[in-house]
Amino acid sequence: MTILKNKIITRSAAETKKAGFILGKSLRAGDIVALSGELGAGKTTFVKGVAKGLGVRSEKEVASPTFVLIHEYKGKFPVYHLDWYRLPAVEGPDELLAQECFEGAGVTLVEWPERGKDLLPKKRIEVYLSHRAASTPTHRLIRIQFYGKKA
Ligand SMILES: Nc1ncnc2c1ncn2[C@@H]1O[C@H](COP(=O)(O)OP(=O)(O)OP(=O)(O)O)[C@@H](O)[C@H]1O
Ligand SMILES: [Mg+2]
Repeated sequence: MTILKNKIITRSAAETKKAGFILGKSLRAGDIVALSGELGAGKTTFVKGVAKGLGVRSEKEVASPTFVLIHEYKGKFPVYHLDWYRLPAVEGPDELLAQECFEGAGVTLVEWPERGKDLLPKKRIEVYLSHRAASTPTHRLIRIQFYGKKA
C-alpha cells in the first residue's frame, strides 16, 4: 500500500481491506461513509476492512446487501451497510431506513450513494475507489474526503 497526500494506492484486495481497517478504527458513532466507484472497484472489500476496524468479528458476514435493504453488523457500535445499486431512486421505505441509520447510534456505510445524493447528510466521509489501469488489474486508487464539521 502506498499512502500519498490525498490518495492511497493498493495492490491487492487485502491491502484495500487494510486501508478500510485504518479508517474504521478512527470512526465514531454517527459517522456516515459513502463509497463510490464502478462495479468491482472494491467498495465491499473496503467495507470488510472498515467493519473489522469497528470490531466486527466475522468478515464472512460482510457482503453487499444488494437484494435486501440493509445488512447490520455488531461491532463497537452497530454498523449499517446499505447498497443502493438496484434503486433507481431512494424513496419510500428505503429513504426511511436510510434516515433511521443516519440518525442512529451506529456507523452507516453506503455503496452507490449517487442514487440518493440528496439524502446524504452534509457531514460525511466520501471514499472513491477506482482501477488504476487495465495493465494493473489488482491495483486500486482510493481517495478519501471528509465533508462537514469533522473535516
Ligand atoms: N486492490 C484491490 N482492492 C479491492 N479489490 C480488489 C483488488 N484487487 C482485486 N480485487 C478484487 O476485485 C473485486 C472487488 O469486488 P467488490 O465486491 O469489493 O467491489 P464493489 O465495488 O463492491 O462492487 P459492486 O459495485 O458490484 O458492489 C473482488 O473480487 C476483489 O478480490
Ligand atoms: Mg459491493
